[in-house]
Amino acid sequence: MNKKGVLVTGGAGYIGSHTVVELIGAGYEVVIVDNFSNSDASSLDGIAKITGTKPIFVEADCCDKEALREVFEHYDFSSVIHFAAYKAVGESVAEPAKYYRNNLLSFLNVVELMKEYHRPNIVFSSSATVYGDAEVLPVTELTPRKPATSPYGNTKQMAEDILRDIVSANNELRGIALRYFNPIGAHPSALIGELPRGVPNNLVPYITQTAAGVRECLSIFGDDYPTPDGSCLRDYIDIVDLARAHVVAINRMVEGKSEECYEVFNIGTGSPVSVFELVQGFERANNLKLNYKVAARRAGDVTAVWADTTRANEILGWCAERNLEDTLRTAWAWECNVRKEK
Ligand code: NAD
Ligand code: WQD
Repeated sequence: MNKKGVLVTGGAGYIGSHTVVELIGAGYEVVIVDNFSNSDASSLDGIAKITGTKPIFVEADCCDKEALREVFEHYDFSSVIHFAAYKAVGESVAEPAKYYRNNLLSFLNVVELMKEYHRPNIVFSSSATVYGDAEVLPVTELTPRKPATSPYGNTKQMAEDILRDIVSANNELRGIALRYFNPIGAHPSALIGELPRGVPNNLVPYITQTAAGVRECLSIFGDDYPTPDGSCLRDYIDIVDLARAHVVAINRMVEGKSEECYEVFNIGTGSPVSVFELVQGFERANNLKLNYKVAARRAGDVTAVWADTTRANEILGWCAERNLEDTLRTAWAWECNVRKEK
């Protein structure tokens, strides 16, 4: 079995494409499977330009088990990173079946085929959303998960549990769930980044589109939270730092260093940042003024969540390196590049 081979589902997407770049840089041979439901081939071109390597790409839906089986038949890899999922929280509330079907079926197909084809290692994209409105901050991996407040969040909790049960029942399989906090920014080359379709839900793409004049004004959702400046606190993690965490997790499994068959790690910076601080950081980093106003709270937002990253620091030997303003410069450079192409 090719220990250097990695199957990356959802590898044309935002986090997947950055991870593929880091994997290639670390000497891994990558096969990407994506159905372009939330991405397009431009990220594959970006990966090729950055790395000088065109990864193998198969356009397929991970919910189509026979199409996915072809990939397991034809390519040799010991590890899988499973990014493929839908991720819009609000849409998942409106269309829960779509989310349960895509996120759970794709995941089950992947793990069942891994078992059948004896491919031992999987990294699963989980989310800080599993913590919900935590009572004690920062959250550690032992902080009890709260009942999910959206079908999207529920798919992450369910997939974590399914993974734990499947690897526990099969001593050939090992799994690592990475709970990402708020990924932001883009590759420093500005050749890959986040490509939201329609009106962005997330803060940073909304900011960059406002600065670019695509959106008129950023609404800051609430300034009356019980936080130092009244806006919500989050843990914004640079996309390249996040991508590196996947390489470290794969290394750990390939080198047989995992102590347990199933491990969970928080991937964040460990520092809370408010919405106002993020906006000001963006203005400072890019030397511009943003049009913003305070608006009502957004339904479903938690007041604050940030990571205790001790486990990732000590066990994975990983920590976030890039500072917030550098990250916000990459976000803006990427937005400018996207606009230039249009
Ligand atoms: P993204 O939408 O940019 O990437 C997901 C990719 O998966 C897309 O390219 C999409 O086309 C593909 N895809 C979706 N369903 C598929 C299917 N059935 N078969 C094949 N391809 C499929 O999203 P992202 O931000 O890169 O997120 C990647 C993963 O990380 C997701 O599982 C997401 O839930 C998780 N996550 C994201 C965030 C975030 O804020 N971006 C935070 C925590 C966790
Ligand atoms: C960040 C802060 C908003 C937009 C979401 C998902 C979570 C995870 C990451 C996948 C909040 C405020 C936002 C705007 C604003 N994804 N905001 N104006 O909600 O922390 O997390 O993405 O797993 O599951 O829920 O991220 O970027 O939407 O918001 O004031 O136009 O910015 O209120 O405080 P969130 P976000």
